[in-house]
Amino acid sequence: MTAAIQSRLTSRQGWKALAAHYDAISKVHLRTLFADDPDRGERFTLEAAGLYLDYSKNRITDETVALLCELARECGLPSRIESMFSGDKINVTEGRPVLHVALRSVPGQQIFVDGHNVVPDVHEVLDKMAGFSEQVRTGAWKGHTGKRIRNVINVGIGGSDLGPVMAYEALKHYSDRSMTFRFISNIDSTDIAEAVVDLDPAETLFVISSKTFTTLETMTNAATAREWLLAGVGGDQRAVARHFVAVSTNAEKVSEFGIDPANMFGFWDWVGGRYSMDSAIGLSTMLAIGTNNFRAMLAGFHEMDEHFRCAPFERNLPVLMGLLSIWNNNFFGAETIAVLPYEQYLKRFPAYLQQLTMESNGKHVTLNGDTVDYDTSPIYWGEPGTNGQHSFYQLIHQGTRLIPCDFIAFNQSLNPIGRHHDMLLANVFAQAEALAFGKTAKEVRAEGTPDWLVSHRVFEGNRPSNIILADQLTPETLGRLISLYEHSVFTQGVIWNLDSFDQWGVELGKVLAQRIIPELESKTDPGFTHDSSTNNLIRRYRKSKGP
Ligand code: F6P
Repeated sequence: MTAAIQSRLTSRQGWKALAAHYDAISKVHLRTLFADDPDRGERFTLEAAGLYLDYSKNRITDETVALLCELARECGLPSRIESMFSGDKINVTEGRPVLHVALRSVPGQQIFVDGHNVVPDVHEVLDKMAGFSEQVRTGAWKGHTGKRIRNVINVGIGGSDLGPVMAYEALKHYSDRSMTFRFISNIDSTDIAEAVVDLDPAETLFVISSKTFTTLETMTNAATAREWLLAGVGGDQRAVARHFVAVSTNAEKVSEFGIDPANMFGFWDWVGGRYSMDSAIGLSTMLAIGTNNFRAMLAGFHEMDEHFRCAPFERNLPVLMGLLSIWNNNFFGAETIAVLPYEQYLKRFPAYLQQLTMESNGKHVTLNGDTVDYDTSPIYWGEPGTNGQHSFYQLIHQGTRLIPCDFIAFNQSLNPIGRHHDMLLANVFAQAEALAFGKTAKEVRAEGTPDWLVSHRVFEGNRPSNIILADQLTPETLGRLISLYEHSVFTQGVIWNLDSFDQWGVELGKVLAQRIIPELESKTDPGFTHDSSTNNLIRRYRKSKGP
């Protein structure tokens, strides 16, 4: 990276105060913090909008929280929040407002974009989605041959896939089990081949989800899906109207593809792809769980939005989560955050969060275009517990890196069977306890461990974690949880002074791929003008395809 220009963040009073505070407390072990403050486990907790956060196992004191909140104020977080909710064009590099909060606004609310209240538009689309979903779910909507639709396939990628597939998996418990839901995203033909292998085209509905309706993967998969459908129902082009609907902001491209504009569900350029699962991009979710459950999910989002907008920073869940991430990553030098849901239904949640967090804040210049001299987004990753415990937790407990963890758990299982849930929850609590407090050499020796083995069995502890607890995984809870992370990402982006809503970093690879595709496909030697490595790989692949 080029020499960093001194950015304003690291010269702020609040930042300097935190740096000095870090020097003062960074060596204090969590064991000491807990021993010195018996109420810590109750005090560093916060319950709001249906979620309970225990953040006591972070390496913080009251002063840390106060200083972090002060930094947030100094960075202008209050006015940035207001700007977002008011529809200001805070996505500066694309000149757009950022209004995913409008997607879960309540009827009667007013949010203006260029003088136009967008709330009625949002509800009009929701009503159209509801009408369509009910038709499909009740069997009133028939396929071309008169059969009812039993399979729904969402075709999309990035935000047009990760949200829908995550929400479907998360809310499967509430879904119509007589229907099959699948998701195609990858341009790898295996994805579509496997998704349709056992399905009857006459019973299959494709939801082509693409904000731009130009994305290579989605358009290629949509064209292949159309061929598969037509081949399966006798080639009559009219079948497309009964088996394809589109979710997009680009009506022109939708009708170019052959989808009846009446079967298009719109959204707006002020909804970022990774913030769109509660827009019409959630059509497959609504088809799976029904309108009421979908609306309940929106209500959960809205509840967290209001909390974020109104609660004082010290009692504000997304603000605290965002600031703790800054503390762990910018001051303690942690480079990642592990997201560990102890809930099998949330198995795609970490993958969803990867786009939300890293596409938003994986930036190296500020809003003004100045190169930052601090780290921005940590790397988010994770797996459901308890599976991860038998895989990578070794590194979290005893490796050389500091990996802050977000544990997510629910008081009640949706599938209560025997003692499973007690054992599941015991594991979450145990992991967070082990990470924080570890096991000293003295304790290991006291168990009769031979001297040579002691160091191997020592757990340093002092490893930070959050625990997010909710009662049960419901549509409302999912909405609250996603909104929590969305606003935590925003909070971090404001501190780092980034545009969290553009994604220029995905462009170069796309452009180069477009250049290479014809070079792989041309019958004649395309002439090799790349670097020697890329030229060699292209030659090798062309040779493998034969003459
Ligand atoms: O390549 C990145 C990206 O632009 C994401 O931001 C977006 O969610 C995804 O591609 C899909 O875009 P679209 O919905 O326009 O097909």
